[in-house]
Amino acid sequence: WAIYAPYVKAINELKAKRNAVILGHNYMTPEIFHGVSDFVGDSLQLAIKATEVEADVIVQAGVHFMAETSKILSPDKIVLMPDMDAGCSLAESITAEGVEEMRAKYPGAPVVSYVNTTAEVKAASDICCTSSNAVQIVDAMESDTVIMTPDQFLAQNVANKSKKKVVFWEGSCIVHELYKADDLRAYRESDPEVKIIAHPECTPEVVAESDFTGSTSGIIKWVHDNKPAKAMLITECSMAANIADELPEVEFAKPCNACPYMKKITLEKILYALHTMEGQVEIDPDMAEKAKLSVTKMIDLSR
Ligand code: 13P
Ligand code: SF4
Repeated sequence: WAIYAPYVKAINELKAKRNAVILGHNYMTPEIFHGVSDFVGDSLQLAIKATEVEADVIVQAGVHFMAETSKILSPDKIVLMPDMDAGCSLAESITAEGVEEMRAKYPGAPVVSYVNTTAEVKAASDICCTSSNAVQIVDAMESDTVIMTPDQFLAQNVANKSKKKVVFWEGSCIVHELYKADDLRAYRESDPEVKIIAHPECTPEVVAESDFTGSTSGIIKWVHDNKPAKAMLITECSMAANIADELPEVEFAKPCNACPYMKKITLEKILYALHTMEGQVEIDPDMAEKAKLSVTKMIDLSR
């Protein structure tokens, strides 16, 4: 922590000077998560927070689609992205044309797009969802068939819990698709005490092997509530790193996979963004208005 202290101090001073808040995703490294974030959470919690902040500036300690969501919801605020290249394999897998392709294939079916999408895709969709409300949103659609984009695995996991017929785009998360059910089964055989907790961006086979599936905040809550002797978090590496100190009674089993996009966000880049005010997220106002409808419909249905 000593090496981070000067950055943490400088960032916290600049936050006060700029009247800024830092919204940190659960996948941020511990020095960002604990050291400088004013609010931490999963995608839904961060989106809701973006509608509530009173500061002039939001620094998004997360990936680009999260910063766009904040700008969509708070267009009058300055939203700073510490690294514009912090993308997401899901957001990059589909454009508005892809959404239209799905609409042409399944006429009349509503499009539920994961928040892990660009503003353009949100604008072309009927409603958004996150990992914490996807089943609820899909079930709330009137049609019997629902189109989900862009995560094929989230869509299949939702289909397993929903009464709807779910058709989907074939995108995937490069972090979660790496986990294999056979490996988890072998691990559990060698250590039957372990609790396996998976994010719903994992394959349905991996989800079937797990003891609990939920959003990043859902996972943190489950581990806090249940305090298993040993937990394996089938998600991004920083999740265990961020909660390990608070839960000394829980042993976190490896492996984990790091998200190369999330890991682009560093204290140095946050400091630079606050110092220079470079990296401001801009969205075409007409597109932002349409995208806002999809996001606010989701937030209203989730309350
Ligand atoms: P959560 O909404 O569960 O935080 O997920 C965001 C994400 O990008 C997971 O890979
Ligand atoms: Fe995107 Fe996967 Fe990284 Fe989440 S973990 S930001 S879904 S690439």
